[in-house]
Amino acid sequence: MVRSFLRDDDLSPAEQAEVLELALRLKQDRFAERPLEGPKTVAVLFDKTSTRTRVSFAVGISELGGYPLIIDSGSSQLGAKESVADTARVLGRQVEAIVWRTYAQDGLEEMAEHSGVSVVNSLSDDFHPCQLLADLLTVKEHFGDLAGRALAYVGDASNNMAHSYLLASATAGMHVRVAGPANYQPNPEVVARAKEIAEQTGGSVSVGVDAAAAVAEADVVTTDTWISMGQESEKDARIAAFGDYSVTAELFAKAAPDAVFLHCLPAYRGYEVAAEVIDGPQSLIWDEAENRLHAQKALLVWLLA
Ligand code: CP
Ligand code: NVA
Repeated sequence: MVRSFLRDDDLSPAEQAEVLELALRLKQDRFAERPLEGPKTVAVLFDKTSTRTRVSFAVGISELGGYPLIIDSGSSQLGAKESVADTARVLGRQVEAIVWRTYAQDGLEEMAEHSGVSVVNSLSDDFHPCQLLADLLTVKEHFGDLAGRALAYVGDASNNMAHSYLLASATAGMHVRVAGPANYQPNPEVVARAKEIAEQTGGSVSVGVDAAAAVAEADVVTTDTWISMGQESEKDARIAAFGDYSVTAELFAKAAPDAVFLHCLPAYRGYEVAAEVIDGPQSLIWDEAENRLHAQKALLVWLLA
């Protein structure tokens, strides 16, 4: 059966653990797995800008023996001139997998339905599951384990990163606590799904408006931009709404003494996070950015097996 990775809960707890173990192994021996030898092609589509996703997929596909065919929005017929379903049928006959950064989650589902190959969500308006594989890999590498650790996400609780933290951390058996303003809370269906997963894994989920309560004694503290791609016109309202949810040194000090800080990047110092936190000794952001490569290679190896 062709498997896709469109949202974090497309991997079961056991499957997520398997992918993370493989990622650790591939980080030690980068050319150990060559499923794309040929080279076989993976299409990597971008409807939004990117640095980390573009680099890590291009490098990763090459290291797996394959060819990354990067297609930027506006350079193909997809969108205005051709439907997702027709594009999927064309790509599916020539490439091994499709990686797509886009807006609507529905489009990814349609791509998977009509292409007949594995489709990977490399960020949608709703989820950023590849980022979460990298984040979990970073935490696992640092602490040696994931289950039972508390992770606090503070800021825009309604965005793709908040949703992915909820699902992926619950899948890993972590205690995930999300805090953001009342008007920017997560999708209730995602919260319900995360709670259902946490019941199986021994994790837990809490969602609210109190940043200090979320961060208290947490092992991992994380945040994201207050203005996601596509929300640029809401900039002033968002900066006003999120002011109390900045990860300052004072807020970070409420976490466990050996807590680590994560951020998917790009970061806006002085807004969602203070420079002294993101550039401080407890920040793991550069390992996290590198781990996109290892985690996504593991995911591709796993999907193509
Ligand atoms: N974190 C992340 O996805 O970065 P890019 O937008 O640069 O790909
Ligand atoms: N929430 C951000 C993540 C960027 C990697 C966005 O969607 O723009």
